[in-house]
Amino acid sequence: MKFATKTIHAGQPSEPETGSLIAPIFQTSTYEQEGPGEDKGFNYSRTNNPTRQRLETILAELEGVEYAAVFASGLAAENAVLQAYLRPGDEIVIPNDVYGGTYRILNKVYQPIGVTIKQFDVSNLEALEKAITSKTKLVWIETPTNPRLLIYDIVETVRLAHAKGALVVVDNTFATPYFQQPFELGADIVVHSVTKYLGGHSDTIQGAAMAKDLKVFEPIKFLQNATGAVPSPFDCWLTLRGLKTLELRMERHAENATAIANALYGHPLVKQVYFPGLPDHPGHAIAKKQMTGFGGMVSFEIDGTVADVVSFVKSRRYFTLAESLGGVKSLLCHPATMTHASIPAEARAELGLSDTLIRLSPGCENAKDLVEDLLEGLAQLEIERKSTKAVAVSAQ
Ligand SMILES: Cc1ncc(COP(=O)(O)O)c(C=O)c1O
Repeated sequence: MKFATKTIHAGQPSEPETGSLIAPIFQTSTYEQEGPGEDKGFNYSRTNNPTRQRLETILAELEGVEYAAVFASGLAAENAVLQAYLRPGDEIVIPNDVYGGTYRILNKVYQPIGVTIKQFDVSNLEALEKAITSKTKLVWIETPTNPRLLIYDIVETVRLAHAKGALVVVDNTFATPYFQQPFELGADIVVHSVTKYLGGHSDTIQGAAMAKDLKVFEPIKFLQNATGAVPSPFDCWLTLRGLKTLELRMERHAENATAIANALYGHPLVKQVYFPGLPDHPGHAIAKKQMTGFGGMVSFEIDGTVADVVSFVKSRRYFTLAESLGGVKSLLCHPATMTHASIPAEARAELGLSDTLIRLSPGCENAKDLVEDLLEGLAQLEIERKSTKAVAVSAQ
């Protein structure tokens, strides 16, 4: 079954009792039992629910494995993986560029209980090899990363981690299984903020963790029920609905991102464009090797001040200023004060995360409209600059 067919057919037969083409939302907390312990495979909706089960089946299929567990948010899924595999005295390796919430949970929740976090440029494979020790339980990468869209080599990371007995977790939120299949490249666990492209419509918060081996999956599945951060049946249904157009949406997101990256590249008010599809992006060759497309996100640095950035992000017509990404409606954000504000300013500077960086999540609108909106914003900045200069000159 090809990808688009899976998104519509995998684990989604018509409902057997009524023939309903689309599965109902099993909005129930519990299930009638014929005798004590005699249930039909469901006994309590924290433990299992038919709507959630459908979603887990399709998400596992899309990542090419058997096991998936969905959670009430991407961070709840991340927490289940971290809680399953990290104990005091253990180490985890993470890249410089990582989602702010991942940085926060590690530094504020796991580091205080005695987990060592080794954060550095993991694309330096020599440094990565040295950093992984017998105490390293997890090597955690995001690729492409949030927000600079850096690319890490999954195959090489897996090779070095497995040589020392560590598991590799890939946050596949930005690429989605449509553009990247981390398990085929050797990853042990994949996590997602389902909130983003998988849900696709900015109307639900959810997360998922998938694994290839039952042994690796079992502790995560156990924590799904034991700690209870599960999504509602309605949220699962929204994602089931969103997933049916994943391929169509990802194609459009990528087309729009490419048009935007090309339009911003070389603009006099743009210092740098981050998009793995650009031939001079440092991760371009690896992205070409391990992805089937470059994804739908673009980030860029304005050659100006934070005030310029604020003026730009506040006045766009089609890009709404908001956290999150991956929906049909375009969004933009200022990572330094929004998604990555949980990383202290000094740490952001050290990690190379500029205060004039803007992250774009192009939606599924028409590319021309989106490009025009951004170029108009830059033209407006130019006008503002000229008038400030003119005022300064006349004041002299
Ligand atoms: C790459 C990445 N991973 C994980 C998360 C966390 O997901 P959620 O917001 O659904 O908890 C996010 C959220 O922005 C993200 O961008």
